[in-house]
Amino acid sequence: MKTVALVGSLRKDSYNLKLVNHLATTYPELGIEVAEIGNLPFFNEEIEANPGQEVRDFQALVKDADAVVIATPEYNASIPAVLKNALDWVSRSGREMEGKKVLIMGASMGALGTVKAQIHLRDILDTLGVAAYVMPAAGGNDVFVGSVHEKFDEDGTLTDELTVQFIDAIVGRFKNFIKIDVSL
Ligand code: FNR
Repeated sequence: MKTVALVGSLRKDSYNLKLVNHLATTYPELGIEVAEIGNLPFFNEEIEANPGQEVRDFQALVKDADAVVIATPEYNASIPAVLKNALDWVSRSGREMEGKKVLIMGASMGALGTVKAQIHLRDILDTLGVAAYVMPAAGGNDVFVGSVHEKFDEDGTLTDELTVQFIDAIVGRFKNFIKIDVSL
């Protein structure tokens, strides 16, 4: 199983990266690889046909993945530009995101834990043709982690037991979802 993780924060101490690290260590069977999206050039139609090796490698990584995890902070009530840019690069002729099973996660220090950003993200993913609609947002299958600064210790370990259990229930359902054939 290959799962590519897109993290919407470039900070090395990012809580969203810590969430992905929690997933990678707790569920090694997902085969999580974090994509480098911070070095991708800004999307520009003038370079789209010949975008360079970094973009090509990123597109191939997404294309080959069985599943995608997106862990993103909320920036001004939406997703950070670096994540939108990465999604734009896998949205066009190659349609690399089409049919992908996507687990959406988000951590913020605010109480609402990226709810607004995730609503925007879901609209974008619909346009990209992902299979995520099988797990609707309202179905409780997205991971929102509010007040995240109180839930990790200094070593980056997720110590909040309720959050650990919440993630475990959702990842369990996500693993079943990955097995379902959603091809048309
Ligand atoms: C934020 N932050 C934030 N938080 C939130 O809940 N709603 C928001 O609209 C915003 N807006 C926002 C804009 C910008 C430019 C920054 C830099 C930050 C705070 C944000 O949730 C917090 O910094 C997270 O810790 C960022 O995630 P990482 O880097 O820890 O993964």
